[in-house]
Amino acid sequence: TLRAVITGVGHYLPERVVENAEFEKTLDTSDEWIRTRSGIERRHFAAEGETTSMMGTAAAKAALADAGRTPADIDAIIVATSTPDLTFPSVATMVQNALGANCGFAFDVQAVCAGFIYALSTANAQILSGQAKRVLVIGAETFSRIMDWEDRATCVLFGDGAGAIVLEAQEGKGTSEDRGILAVDLNSDGSYKDMLFVDGGVSTTGTAGKLRMQGNALFRQAVVKLAETAETALAKAGVAASEVDWIVPHQANIRIIEGTAKKLGLSMDHVVVTVQDHGNTSAASIPLAMSVGRARGQIKPGDLCVAEAIGGGLAWGAVVLRW
Ligand code: ACO
Repeated sequence: TLRAVITGVGHYLPERVVENAEFEKTLDTSDEWIRTRSGIERRHFAAEGETTSMMGTAAAKAALADAGRTPADIDAIIVATSTPDLTFPSVATMVQNALGANCGFAFDVQAVCAGFIYALSTANAQILSGQAKRVLVIGAETFSRIMDWEDRATCVLFGDGAGAIVLEAQEGKGTSEDRGILAVDLNSDGSYKDMLFVDGGVSTTGTAGKLRMQGNALFRQAVVKLAETAETALAKAGVAASEVDWIVPHQANIRIIEGTAKKLGLSMDHVVVTVQDHGNTSAASIPLAMSVGRARGQIKPGDLCVAEAIGGGLAWGAVVLRW
């Protein structure tokens, strides 16, 4: 049985770190409110002129080095992003060019905060169908560019950054003991559009727009839908939640992360948490957490992991994999 196995991981965070207290100068907010309601303590913001493709390229280089691969070894590059450098071409082709890899194919996937789960699912399908043997999967975002800096309910929650993995075809035995992606579950429901959207775009305003969110309504959807999709993916993989070594959740809010772990019956000792340092980096948050989780010595080869995310659309999903 062919499996898509993670062989390398890496990330990039912009240099500038902004602590919660900095928002107290311009907004009616406090470190205390942000910390207790979201779990966020600080986030990174891209420098002027620093773009999504630049951050994605840096993360890709780190992942390639970790996998012991060169750009020429890669058949496909998939970037999950909602904040591309330009309307087109894709960020993925820009990363491809920046890596000096002018072979294979590259494209973007857009599913907002669930983008990395969708990209991972797409990369898995490319590998299982024999279209690619090695795929670079990247999540990269510059959400600071779509913030309304006067809206305290959103602008304190997001950050910039990028994470990347190298996914490679390997033979497995067809059991849940195999390394690699064991199951995927994807969902979307466009009737929830107004809960989270950006109020601009090419065919409407001709501008990039700003992020608008009904935080509390989304919060209530998130815990239920994330636990459901994780449970569905675990059932497809034929493993019990109790066997999971690590939940690698989308890092939007510590209370959502805790609520989902509780519904799955897992303690926080089994959850990779980076939200305090990164804020919500949308499609970048899961590969960032994977990279940090590996670097901290939390995730080890052979560990059973479930990654889950929900975001604008709504779009949500989960991937079960053995590292
Ligand atoms: N500082 C101080 N007060 C604030 C701030 C702030 N930064 N932001 C909002 N408030 C106020 C509100 O105005 C409100 O005041 P009111 O009661 O007088 O009306 C009060 O705090 C409570 O607001 P709620 O929105 O009910 O607070 P809640 O506990 O729901 O926390 C939060 C808000 C953190 C946004 C939470 O709802 C959340 O995390 N939601 C999910 C968001 C999410 O997951 N988004 C990501 C998924 S998709 C993606 O990642 C793109």
